Amino acid sequence: MSVLSRVSARFGRTRLLGSTRSFVATTKTIQRDANEWEPKTFAIIETSKDEVGSLRKILDAFEGHNINMTHLESRMKSFARSGPSFHVDFLGDPEAPETARFLKDLQSISGVVQCKIQPTREVPWFPLNIRDLDLTRETLDGGTDLINKDHPGFHDQEYKARRSKIVEIATTYTHGMEIPRIDYTDEETRTWGAVYDRLSECHAKWACSEFLQVVPQMEKYCGYSNSNIPQLADISDFLLQSSGFQLRPISGLLSARDFLNALAFRVFFSTQYIRHHGNPFYTPEPDVCHELLGHAPLFANMDFADFSQEIGLASLAASDEDIDRLASVYWFTVEFGLLREGDKVKAFGAGLLSSFGELEWGCAQEPTQECREMGSVPDLNKPKIIPFDPFVAAQTKFPITTYQPTFFCAESMGDAKQNIRLFCDSLSRPFHPQYDSLTQSIRATKAVRRATRSSTAAAQAAKQSAYFEA
Ligand SMILES: [Fe+2]
Repeated sequence: MSVLSRVSARFGRTRLLGSTRSFVATTKTIQRDANEWEPKTFAIIETSKDEVGSLRKILDAFEGHNINMTHLESRMKSFARSGPSFHVDFLGDPEAPETARFLKDLQSISGVVQCKIQPTREVPWFPLNIRDLDLTRETLDGGTDLINKDHPGFHDQEYKARRSKIVEIATTYTHGMEIPRIDYTDEETRTWGAVYDRLSECHAKWACSEFLQVVPQMEKYCGYSNSNIPQLADISDFLLQSSGFQLRPISGLLSARDFLNALAFRVFFSTQYIRHHGNPFYTPEPDVCHELLGHAPLFANMDFADFSQEIGLASLAASDEDIDRLASVYWFTVEFGLLREGDKVKAFGAGLLSSFGELEWGCAQEPTQECREMGSVPDLNKPKIIPFDPFVAAQTKFPITTYQPTFFCAESMGDAKQNIRLFCDSLSRPFHPQYDSLTQSIRATKAVRRATRSSTAAAQAAKQSAYFEA
């Protein structure tokens, strides 16, 4: 079961040139691959002897030809040759005559026995430019499929039709559009207001100070109040100016890979519909209450925004195993993270901040019996709270239908960021991704080409079904 399947949110927005129609056409025509944006060559240089200075002579040749090396690995071979071989990636088109001349010079260096260009490596598909997020359409639930017989809105045809209408925005949205505004009904606004008032009381007691500092600004600039459901377009504008993060509408639950990949571009996918009015304090899936009251405020915090992007960058072209590890780290931070403030613990995870029961469970000194029963943990007096360690969190299992038995508590937002950075650096990546904020694209340090995009949503939805049916 994906970390992101129970609670997650996501979004995006940026104003660009021209009309939506012409922008869509541009999006479809530009589909260059990684090595086309910035051509790189991958070569293996073999040496005859392991001796002092052999690498220096090779590096001198790079400098002499004014060629920038982007990646270097040395490999010792125990057979055929006694010297090391160097795997190098450098800027330059492998087909260009100057590249051929450079390799010829490398070959002539004393001690170099072979120098050959290698094929560009194929890596799992990943979004290379922020516009590639337009290809992320498949969700685990299609936005409405999870409305099963246990859902408060299961028998409400009007509610189902309303959700389908709102979901249309996400299915037709493309990068560059302003996120369409929704004229929420009085009934929807009353549902929001009930949640807003109850959560506001809980936030005052148990939300971290970073969260509480942002909320007044969101009331002032984004229309947060108990009588108004704020619009994604306004929140996205505010976040963009605060931390460079932005929101993008989505129709439902994304696969962990697709969801995390978007964070690399400082984009957060968010639903726009609201839970059923029959029970304002319960929702089986993310809705605007979870996204806007739980997630959105902290994306204005630079440390939080930075470590969210760090997780996203590490997820690009990552193995399925590393996606699972990163999803666990995400779960125990962005969804259920705690921060220490003096002798208290405060919430910064959206799964906590959007649920009055889980906030009490995670942060109260002595959670009430009512709270424990509500979270299906009546036999536990309180959760186990341990210092945040992403290496441990990455391997920690978690339930999705009960309150969390274990929380990780960071010393500060900066501490969480530093530890997450160390964890992400420890993963073996097919290349090191660098985010270029000017072009909103990813630069790879190696010569790579992307495999054909294949959605992982179907596979993850099957895992989710298996989990619930087990
Ligand atoms: Fe969430």
